[in-house]
Amino acid sequence: MRVLGIETSCDETGVAIYDSERGLLAHTTYTQTEIHAQFGGVVPELASRDHVRKILPVIEDVLAKASLTTSDIDGVAFTKGPGLVGALLVGAMLGRTLAFAWNVPAIGVHHLEGHLLAAFLEKSSLQFPYLALLVSGGHTELINAEKMGRYQVIGDTLDDAAGEAFDKTAKLLGLGYPGGAALAKLAEKGNPERFHFPRPMVDRPGLDFSFSGLKTFALHTVEKHGLDEQTKADIARAFQEAVVATLVIKCKRALEATQQKRLVIAGGVGANLALRAALQTMCDKKNVELFFPRQEFCTDNGAMIAYVGCERLLQGERDSLEVGVLARWPLGEVE
Ligand code: KG4
Ligand code: ZN
Repeated sequence: MRVLGIETSCDETGVAIYDSERGLLAHTTYTQTEIHAQFGGVVPELASRDHVRKILPVIEDVLAKASLTTSDIDGVAFTKGPGLVGALLVGAMLGRTLAFAWNVPAIGVHHLEGHLLAAFLEKSSLQFPYLALLVSGGHTELINAEKMGRYQVIGDTLDDAAGEAFDKTAKLLGLGYPGGAALAKLAEKGNPERFHFPRPMVDRPGLDFSFSGLKTFALHTVEKHGLDEQTKADIARAFQEAVVATLVIKCKRALEATQQKRLVIAGGVGANLALRAALQTMCDKKNVELFFPRQEFCTDNGAMIAYVGCERLLQGERDSLEVGVLARWPLGEVE
């Protein structure tokens, strides 16, 4: 079965074609970053309008890359939620309409299930059950993934998500928006000995996170030491080390609590190389297998939606002709 996947939940227009026998055939991600950068965050109305402009050209591009025509598509998957309603509606309306016109089934996919299963796009021995660390701009969650569709959130953030903390601290350092990747790059030049940031909530039992204090700590450090180039890099380094150390400690604790032998990283912050390296070291010591999607599939993309859509369509699931999207949609309610 060949499935066209469409992702438009936020500020990326992502499209891909996934083949249940041959794997991923083609994918394109168009990012709106430049449009929103001047506002320091995503402007929902601008996001929706740009999805409208880009979605058809991106679909045409993916079909051309895969050397396929519309008659080769056996199903259409689109992100149904959670996300920005206007942005979601563009992908959902178009996806549902194309499926109707092509006379193939359609399926609405949960955005976070896409992230959770993105590691299946890589060639590996990954299988259920596993523990997942979902770290994106909007989420920091530890999830017990028992089987397809059965996900239990066992740890969550009490305030800012990890990516949000990266973005806010990056903004403070004058790195633009979204600044996670730029902060990570700057951290490479930082002196790890100069500053030590706190590791939030690690001395308390449990699997929840809190990152808003780190951004305040960064602010106080800037007020005290200024913002020359080296100080910026040193702050970036200390901030990143605190986030990474905290995530690693909580993953270790969750692995012990669940007795899982596989750990999967998902979401945009999963692209962070320092995080990947630290988790690898911890997993090696614990004899746990670590899996992560390639970097471009950590951030929002159509491939993960095409993959989940294909799995669900193969199981016989179908959406009706009605187009509905969900701004909020708890992962536990995906079934
Ligand atoms: O999953 P994603 O693309 O979008 C959401 O659904 O939120 O994640 C985006 C987040 C942003 O906060 C971005 O700054 C962060 O992932 N990010 C990174 C890196 N690359 C992206 N954070 C740290 N290090 C990176 N290399
Ligand atoms: Zn996402």
